[in-house]
Amino acid sequence: MAEINVGIIGFGTVGAGTVEVLLQNKEIIGKRAGGNVKIKRIADLDLESDRGIPVDREILTTEAMDVINDPDVHIIVELIGGLGAAKDYILKAMEKGKHVVTANKALLAECGEELHKAADKYRVNLAFEASVGGGIPVIRALREGLSANNVLSIMGILNGTSNYILSGMTEKDLSYEDAVREAIRLGYAEDPPTLDVDGTDAAHKLAILVSIAYGAPVNFAKIYRQGVSELKPEDVRFAREFGYCIKLLAITRNLGERIEARVHPTMVSLNHIMANVKGAYNAVYLEGDFVGPNLYYGLGAGRRPTGSAVVSDIIDLSRKLIEGDHAPLLPFAPANTKREEIQIQPIDELESAYYFRFSALDRPGVLSKIAGILGAHQISISSVIQKGRQVRGSVPVVMLTHEARESNVLKALSLIDGLDVLTDKTMMIRVGEGKGHSNEDEEQ
Ligand code: HSE
Repeated sequence: MAEINVGIIGFGTVGAGTVEVLLQNKEIIGKRAGGNVKIKRIADLDLESDRGIPVDREILTTEAMDVINDPDVHIIVELIGGLGAAKDYILKAMEKGKHVVTANKALLAECGEELHKAADKYRVNLAFEASVGGGIPVIRALREGLSANNVLSIMGILNGTSNYILSGMTEKDLSYEDAVREAIRLGYAEDPPTLDVDGTDAAHKLAILVSIAYGAPVNFAKIYRQGVSELKPEDVRFAREFGYCIKLLAITRNLGERIEARVHPTMVSLNHIMANVKGAYNAVYLEGDFVGPNLYYGLGAGRRPTGSAVVSDIIDLSRKLIEGDHAPLLPFAPANTKREEIQIQPIDELESAYYFRFSALDRPGVLSKIAGILGAHQISISSVIQKGRQVRGSVPVVMLTHEARESNVLKALSLIDGLDVLTDKTMMIRVGEGKGHSNEDEEQ
């Protein structure tokens, strides 16, 4: 029976999950891979912590290069994360002709093209199912199941930490700060959860999805990102009064010559499927021109779900090794295919509906001043709520608009925030996702 040897770099949460799946489901994995998949070496700086898995101490090392240089190791699994040493290890493994599996979303988003080119050069594969959506096989779905489609749009809840925090604010009326504290206490968030709550993690994952959906490199820096930390409980309450909840969405839309690619808090209709994605769950809702809408839902993090995704790549690569197929994984076609960077539309050209919460003094004429400035910038109001509720010494005036251009919105808000009757910066949240995404209006 063929034997495939795996070397793992990084024995933290995901590394331990990977080892656990490989050991517990050894028989099933062997059948699916067409040979025995064996853990040959594991590198980590911490060799002492108990991971709750029986691992022979002989295979452990503190030196990643011991794993990469081991001539018997066929597949390198990089699970240390980050942009530093991980990249060197991956490139060195490829140079040695080894296939690589990684869960490293930051590295793929920021240096993906360099890694894909190296994989092409050394005729090896780079597989990364675990980098987006934890256990949800969305990379494989895009790469294989949907490869016949022109992807029209993707809408993802890709950061479980932010979703957990927003769910706490929505369902338990917690403040942002209390929701973060709860998420940290229960182990759903790191302390501090900076890259999660500022939208960077979701943007990394969006960059990866976009690069697969459109089969071309993405300039990560051009993806607009805004996190959840400025949202207030009153925004969550007002959203509900208008029939929405607030989600951190990662969105791409195919505009033909260019795409939208953006991450920000978004008001999602309570009727929409994505409104029901709660707590630490992730979901990806996408539309292809032939397949129509597709929804993927599951645990976006955690030892076992992420281990499941890593091992799915190990099985795929083991089969390639056993069958002798070195063709690149779709859609990373051979090197002779032209790969031009995807053009991303600047955020100020976005056309969207908006939610505004103005903090205003409760005086005659305030509303007409605000409405006058909005009107002068072609922003049409669709609903207004003003309640005599005192919030931090002012009265919230809340509006929803029809579709407007973001550049006009930004200009109007800067004029409005300069009025002496405004007591605080206006909160702006983009609304909905245009047409065709709600449960109610889907065609059969
Ligand atoms: N930190 C991520 C999240 C999980 O909160 O969703 C790993 O990608």
